[in-house]
Amino acid sequence: MSAHRNTVFNAKTKLISGIGSIKSLSQELKKIQASTILVVTDKGIKNAGILNKVLEEIDSNYDVMIFDEVKPNPEVEMTDNAYHTYKDKGIDLLLAIGGGSVLDTAKGLSVLFSNGGSIADYYGYDIYKNKTYPMFAVPTTVGTGSESGNAAVFTDNSNNLKTKKLIFGEDLFPEVAFLDAELLKNMPSHLISSTGMDALTHAIEGYVANWSSHVTDSLNLHAVRVIGSSIRQATAHSENLEAMHSMLLASTIAGLGMANSGLGMVHGISHAIGAQYDAPHGIVNAILLPYLLEYNWIANPEKFSHIADALRVNIQGLSVEDAAKAAVEHVKTMTAEVGIPDNLSAIGVDDSKIDLLTDIAFNDQQYMVPNPRKMSRQDIYDILQKAIAGSAHPTAVKEVYS
Ligand SMILES: [Fe+2]
Repeated sequence: MSAHRNTVFNAKTKLISGIGSIKSLSQELKKIQASTILVVTDKGIKNAGILNKVLEEIDSNYDVMIFDEVKPNPEVEMTDNAYHTYKDKGIDLLLAIGGGSVLDTAKGLSVLFSNGGSIADYYGYDIYKNKTYPMFAVPTTVGTGSESGNAAVFTDNSNNLKTKKLIFGEDLFPEVAFLDAELLKNMPSHLISSTGMDALTHAIEGYVANWSSHVTDSLNLHAVRVIGSSIRQATAHSENLEAMHSMLLASTIAGLGMANSGLGMVHGISHAIGAQYDAPHGIVNAILLPYLLEYNWIANPEKFSHIADALRVNIQGLSVEDAAKAAVEHVKTMTAEVGIPDNLSAIGVDDSKIDLLTDIAFNDQQYMVPNPRKMSRQDIYDILQKAIAGSAHPTAVKEVYS
């Protein structure tokens, strides 16, 4: 809220980026005293051939085990089970290859391998006692930001109420992240646009968050600029390596920003939906973003006018308020241009759980507090109602995003 408040900026991850940068993996492995590696990934990454490309870079003197059972919106139980399967195997390094669900699962395992118990024992900040296991990250989407951040999100089903819970702490930054767009060159267009819009959501929510600072602003606003100038080209063709490289870097930059600025209620509401409907995080955020921007801009018109400028909107001669509104309109247009539906019904969210979703989101202090405009329960309900209905978008795209 105020630029002069006291802040701490945390970052630790070595970022190795560029086409072919995964070739540095063996060199980085030599710097860590490890002999047994647990690769954490999912079936999609395996079937796309990305897993093999990364494994080719690991020398044969390492013992490599592969856990490829990660599911979207990773559940506490799945992560706990993976821990029990591998805890006595002498693992000393985690190598995560995948999107946010994979990276977060590996972070969870890095806590469990050194602390035991269940993921549910570590909700909150720095709750674990022992230093976590080292982890390398190879992100395969252009949205998670988990590769440069210190948080991991899990779906908790205690008391028969599915919600998302966070664990975070200084130890949860990966040691090294390899940002290699060549690994992503067969990525489906709808995943580029939805995860790319998730990265834009991180950057914008982080930029206008009450916990932002000059340091996080410099990262988040630059990420807005880079995404604004590359998401269309990347969505149009995943083999446009320049655009994909820019998106991957912007996602990582926003990851660093959000780890220190916090986010806002796009994430608060989307986590409630993600947990209840097992809906993919990127597309839910992408649909919600314009609705929350429309609601939030009056809290900080000046910062929203910066977003317009970063997105190359011509704001010459506009008042700060009109420039802020132009930012909101521009994001709406961008969202449509990259094929994101404008309503939650398109991904199977109806109003049958609207009260439950509202309650879960309203009680999520992690996002309510940094959101720039103070939200009432009714505000959340109204936004959900609008976002579910949308403006009668004719295309049912549930199959594409499920
Ligand atoms: Fe996100």
